[in-house]
Amino acid sequence: MKKKKQLLFYAIVCLITICAYACKQTQEKRAEIIPGIVWNDTDGNPINAHGGGIMFHDGTYYWYGEYKGDSTYRLDWVTTWECWRADAGGVACYSSKDLVNWKFEGVVLPSTPEDSTSDLHPSQVIERPKVIYNDKTKKFVMWMHIESPDYEKAHAGVATGDSPTGIFTYLGSFKPNGEDSRDQTIFKDDDGKAYHIYSSEWNKTLYIGLLNDEYTQHTGKFTRNFIDRSREAPAVFKHEGKYYLVSSGCTGWDPNVAECAVADSMMGEWKVIGNPCIGKDADSTYFAQSTFVLPVTEKKGAYIAMFDRWNKTNLIDSRYVWLPLTFKDGKPVIEWKESWSLD
Ligand code: DGJ
Repeated sequence: MKKKKQLLFYAIVCLITICAYACKQTQEKRAEIIPGIVWNDTDGNPINAHGGGIMFHDGTYYWYGEYKGDSTYRLDWVTTWECWRADAGGVACYSSKDLVNWKFEGVVLPSTPEDSTSDLHPSQVIERPKVIYNDKTKKFVMWMHIESPDYEKAHAGVATGDSPTGIFTYLGSFKPNGEDSRDQTIFKDDDGKAYHIYSSEWNKTLYIGLLNDEYTQHTGKFTRNFIDRSREAPAVFKHEGKYYLVSSGCTGWDPNVAECAVADSMMGEWKVIGNPCIGKDADSTYFAQSTFVLPVTEKKGAYIAMFDRWNKTNLIDSRYVWLPLTFKDGKPVIEWKESWSLD
């Protein structure tokens, strides 16, 4: 009897070990994108790359995003809106060959806890980093939204690196064309020209500025778009010669309805073509907010629409909602999927 019990005990231990191993394997090598659940990197740690964007370089995808601090707090002295904050940890980078399994490459633009005067001090805000490669200078150029804790500063920050995994050198921040720069993205066109797309004029109007040849400064050429329509979270892409811009309304960390616009030139004029999201919860963008649209380099005509599902009271636990973006009747369409694969 005692022997039987012992055998049973060993069998249970074996089973648990096998299950734990199997789970770890599934975690390490995933085949599907599952929007909204915790995504772990290949070391088994939750991916911390919010408001991010992806750059494809030499056969590898690099995902850059906000590296948020553990605890979330609300600034009581900001009374006009719910200013929930997590310390800024800098910009994180993850790499992947398949867009599903991501390796942590480190914090490629670290925050500077030792320098309270720096834009990169954890008390400041570093949001929506995006990176592009400059073929002429051979530099990787990062643009990001730099803020004071109360979001009144409205600067664009720039950093450059010699490798996609950094370390990036911070060049500083400024108000492009003398105006606010909050939510932002950058876009590199097929002809090598690059653009900075940013919410300006207290978020009321979206500016699009042409960058210099090094991609580190503005040229002074810019257009004002969606005037007084308060668009933020811009994500842009090009499909069959036309430019598309997905954006959200301005409701802090809370979700709202997305909108897509199309143009023949990145500088505009932009024509609004409505909400690209369809189906259940489309009017709240599946409780998420746009950050980037990735053309899948190896699959012509395939796009991934990337969103953040913010958890304002626990910002580090904000989730990633990535969905396929397809074209129907010439318009971009995004539909909820519980899980999906690039095949
Ligand atoms: C909405 C923006 O899109 C986010 O990046 C962030 O700045 C929040 N507002 C802050 O409330």
